[in-house]
This record gives sequence, structure tokens and C-alpha cells, in this order.
Amino acid sequence: MKNIDEYYVPWVKGIPMYISGHIELAWRKPELHRMMSNENPNPPSEKVLAAIDKYARMANRYPDQGLVLRGKIAEINGLGGAKNVLLGNGSSEVFDNIFRIFLAPGEEVIQHTPCFGIYKLRCTILGGKLVSVPMVYKDKKLLYDPDSILKAVTDKTKIIVIANPNNPTGNFMDGKDFVRIAETGIPFVVDEAYIEYAGLGMSQVGLTKRFKNVIITRTLSKAYGLAGMRLGYALADKDVIGQISAALLPWNVGTIPMWAALAALEDTEALEYRVKYNNSEVDFIQESLSDVPGLVIFPSKANYILFDCGATGKKGKDMVAYAEQKGLIFRPETEKYGSDGWFRITIGSKEENRMAVEVVREFLTS
Ligand SMILES: Cc1ncc(COP(=O)(O)O)c(C=O)c1O
Repeated sequence: MKNIDEYYVPWVKGIPMYISGHIELAWRKPELHRMMSNENPNPPSEKVLAAIDKYARMANRYPDQGLVLRGKIAEINGLGGAKNVLLGNGSSEVFDNIFRIFLAPGEEVIQHTPCFGIYKLRCTILGGKLVSVPMVYKDKKLLYDPDSILKAVTDKTKIIVIANPNNPTGNFMDGKDFVRIAETGIPFVVDEAYIEYAGLGMSQVGLTKRFKNVIITRTLSKAYGLAGMRLGYALADKDVIGQISAALLPWNVGTIPMWAALAALEDTEALEYRVKYNNSEVDFIQESLSDVPGLVIFPSKANYILFDCGATGKKGKDMVAYAEQKGLIFRPETEKYGSDGWFRITIGSKEENRMAVEVVREFLTS
């Protein structure tokens, strides 16, 4: 009898389960303030809670394919209809579905770094090779580098993925550069998880009408404040959505998240409140810390702010440890561009943001 080790698909062997240590810590110690995972500090609106309550009572039934929700999403985005929209268990699952359809073992995915970690995770599990193109750190800014992304294309490139705005840098790539990448014809995923904070006017969704290879991903986890519901979606040409749908698990999205999402999308006042609140708190934190000597603050159009405190002589990981002692969970960032001063803060409640400002100033100026 052979050992089970000999049966594992070679490229998955030894890959551990992904666990977010910060989220585990936050649930284990609810007394700590969560400023690490780009969640929304506002709980769901009353309208969303009413939908959750209503559909919780039908949880004995299987969900449908979400035609009402998909139709609403298409309408908001000026697309033809439900067939242009695919739903997922968070946009994380949407990436997985897209990658399964386009990527075979040994083929390549191009991403920009620093960025969100899920693209690498899904690429690796499928036996793909991740090609990371660094952003350019110049004049206290981290800039997109579309020329280098285009240069990294090979005949093995099967997906290019760009987050817009990017996490953790919080900035946008120029519209014309999206067109240049789309013109390669390579499946091009534009991750717009945080787009609502800047407004849908910044979206590249219009490109899906010109280019069949452009796929936009979104989530209800951020500006809509439903991270725990797990609802994300993709927008693209209807034939492309139809083909990606082949990778969907039957009933991948539950009844409650679907109808909660519809209620959230219809509750435009609640969204407006959350966006306004977030953007004024981003301004507050950026302005309050702008005079800390040596601290680089990356102007953000999302619900988090990236910092590099390398020039203060302090380390990002020590900043994060100090904040935790003071009751706040910040997000550490890996060493890059010759600096070990990186950390990221998610916008919290007013009280949390003021505590954060105080803690950062205290640590970096003492
Ligand atoms: C850029 C980006 N895309 C996607 C996601 C994942 O969101 P979801 O909760 O929809 O899986 C995140 C979460 O932090 C993110 O930062």
C-alpha cells in the first residue's frame, strides 16, 4: 500500500492552511480594537438587519442563483443584466473561480506588489507561478508601474490582476494604463474592493463593454460593511461570466448574505453615511500625523492608511506591538524598499482613530 503522501498533488504538498493571525487575535480578545483588516467600524443598517431577520427564517430552504441581486448589481453598474454578474462567497471566492477557469499548472499570474495576498494563495494552490512586479517608491509615494507589468508578460501569462485602489497603498492607477493592459487580450482582473469610498466614477467597469478580457471584482465587505456576510461579485461580458460560472460550487452564496446584500445596495443613505464618515476620518488621521518628523503617510482613497516610519529610526513591527499593548491592533507590513518601518491602520470608530493618532505620535516621537 502506498503512503498517502504520494497521492497529494505535488504543488499543494506542504502548503499550510491560511490563517489570519490578526483576525484570530481580535476574536479571541474582543477588548482589543480592530484596526487591522480593513473592516467597516459601523454595524449593518436597520434595513440590512431586517433582511437578515426575514431570510434567517427561510434558512431551511436552499438559495436560488441570486437573479434579483445580480440584476440590481448590473443596474447600478450600467450593465445589461444578471448575466453580467457572478456572485461569490466574498470576492476571495470570486478570485478562486476566475483563476480556476484561466490558470493551469505552470502558467503565470502577474500582480503588483505590495498588494492583497489572496491572488498569490489562489495561484499557488492551482500550481501557477506568481510574477510580482514591484510598485515604484519615489518622492514618498508608491506608484503603479504599468510599463514593468507589460514587460513581465510572457506566453505563459494567463492572468494580470491589479487592485484599484491598491491595498495597502490606497492609490489608483491611471485610466489610460488600464486600457494598455486590457489591449494585451490577457484576462485582466481589476479588484475594486474599495471603489465605493472614491465613488463608482473611478471604476473601470466601462472597459468590460470594450474588452471581453476585463473582469471587475467587488465586495460588500468594505464600504457596505458586511465582511462577516461574505458576499463578493464579478462584472464582465456575459459570455465570460457564463464560462467562469462553470467553476462555481452549487449554492456557493447563502440566502441570508444574498438578501442582506440586496438590502445594503438599496440602502443608499447608509452607504453615503459610511463613505462620508470614512473619508473624513482618513483626512483626520492623515492631517493629525502629518507633522511627525520622518513619518511617511501614503494618501489613501480607501478605509486604511499605509505608513513608513523607517526614517524615524523605529520599526513598523515595534509600532504594531506598542499599539497592541495600548489596546489597538494595527497591521504589520513586511520589510521592503530598504525600510522596516511599514505598518497599516484601518479606519475605526472616532474614538479608536483618536487613540490611534495618540499612540502613533507617542511611539514615534518618544
Ligand atoms: C484588495 C482586496 N481585495 C479583496 C479583498 C477581499 O474581500 P472579501 O471579503 O470580499 O473576500 C480584500 C480584503 O481585505 C482586499 O483588500
